[in-house]
Amino acid sequence: MADEPFATNLVRAEGKVGGAQRASNLGHGSFTVWFTGLSGSGKSTLAFAMEEALLARGVAAYVLDGDNIRFGLNRDLGFSPKDRAENIRRIGEVCHLFQDAGLVVLTAFISPYRADRDRVRELHPEGRFVEVYVDTPLEVCEERDVKGLYARARAGEIPEFSGISAPYEPPLNAEIRVNTDHSLHDCVEQIAAHLGL
Ligand code: ADX
Repeated sequence: MADEPFATNLVRAEGKVGGAQRASNLGHGSFTVWFTGLSGSGKSTLAFAMEEALLARGVAAYVLDGDNIRFGLNRDLGFSPKDRAENIRRIGEVCHLFQDAGLVVLTAFISPYRADRDRVRELHPEGRFVEVYVDTPLEVCEERDVKGLYARARAGEIPEFSGISAPYEPPLNAEIRVNTDHSLHDCVEQIAAHLGL
């Protein structure tokens, strides 16, 4: 995917206020909190629990969830490496807009490729992209198999399934790592403390 736009003769328009002023009007810091991990690792559960905890504190938070986004904005994309890159590119742009608008956006996408995640990080101002590695081992995700997809992937019914027949590249320098040793509540509090929220 080229970084330059397809269209030519474009000139950026500039508003009169910056992200810092928008965030200060809302009264809290703005972040993209990027949960990455295998299917069934607990990304969505964590993101929604985090959203609930933040809203209870008066923080403007919103979840972008992989399966949900694939019903709408990204309904034209599948699971090839190219489509996954485009999935993450679009979501990354949306996250940057939300973050610039002063919100806390929480994402739950497998986002298996390190390069795709790093590109999203680079869109954000320093410190505003917080990567959370939901480090639930494949064996645990597969045993849970909440959606029944691992069994079908093992049976060869779902091609390019992350962790089985497609790669998952764990983060090397995630800001936060959570795993099944900690309760949902503890994970949420750990992340909230990191964000100062
Ligand atoms: S990503 O790799 O492009 O980040 P995303 O998070 O949007 O993936 O979507 C993953 C969800 O799609 C999974 O939780 C699962 O429900 C569903 N899914 C369907 N087919 C696949 C597949 N081949 N690999 C991974 N997830 C799949």
